Amino acid sequence: MTELENLASQVAQCRRCALAQGRTNTVPGEGPADARLMFIGEAPGYHEDRLGRPFVGAAGQFLEQLLHSIGMTRQQVYICNVIKCRPPNNRDPLPEEIEACRPYLDRQIELIRPKVIVTLGRYSMARYFSSGTISQIHGRPVRVGDILCLPLFHPAAALHQPRYKAAIEEDFRKIPD
Ligand code: URA
Repeated sequence: MTELENLASQVAQCRRCALAQGRTNTVPGEGPADARLMFIGEAPGYHEDRLGRPFVGAAGQFLEQLLHSIGMTRQQVYICNVIKCRPPNNRDPLPEEIEACRPYLDRQIELIRPKVIVTLGRYSMARYFSSGTISQIHGRPVRVGDILCLPLFHPAAALHQPRYKAAIEEDFRKIPD
């Protein structure tokens, strides 16, 4: 078993917060262990919870389109979320849920050692950016140790708001650089 598989099986048994009670599946994340690019979303939704895979609904389709727009596929990147279980009715993650899940995300980053982390939405942005709103700082990369972090709008928000859609499309073009 690889270290990432080992981590996924720990996540599958996790009962560190109340979300364990309502989940169908945990959604640890997926992608190559040596991915150079890592995407961190917010939390699994309905489809992700059903399948145990991240970004497989409408936001995921849009994320795949964005990847194609820069000549990449989802098979080349690592995709995960700040929390690994679906919150009821897709509500925002609570601070204690983010805290309970933190060791899993920390370990994923440690194992994959990506060159670039793209945060999708406010909750994963908060891990690296302590000040500024997403509207102010999206698309501006910041170096954190060896990793370049790029904060982007969440693709689900972009699906509903033309302004955010144009912004995420433009911000995505910075990734190849
Ligand atoms: N939104 C997220 O933040 N993550 C998913 O996996 C799906 C939708």
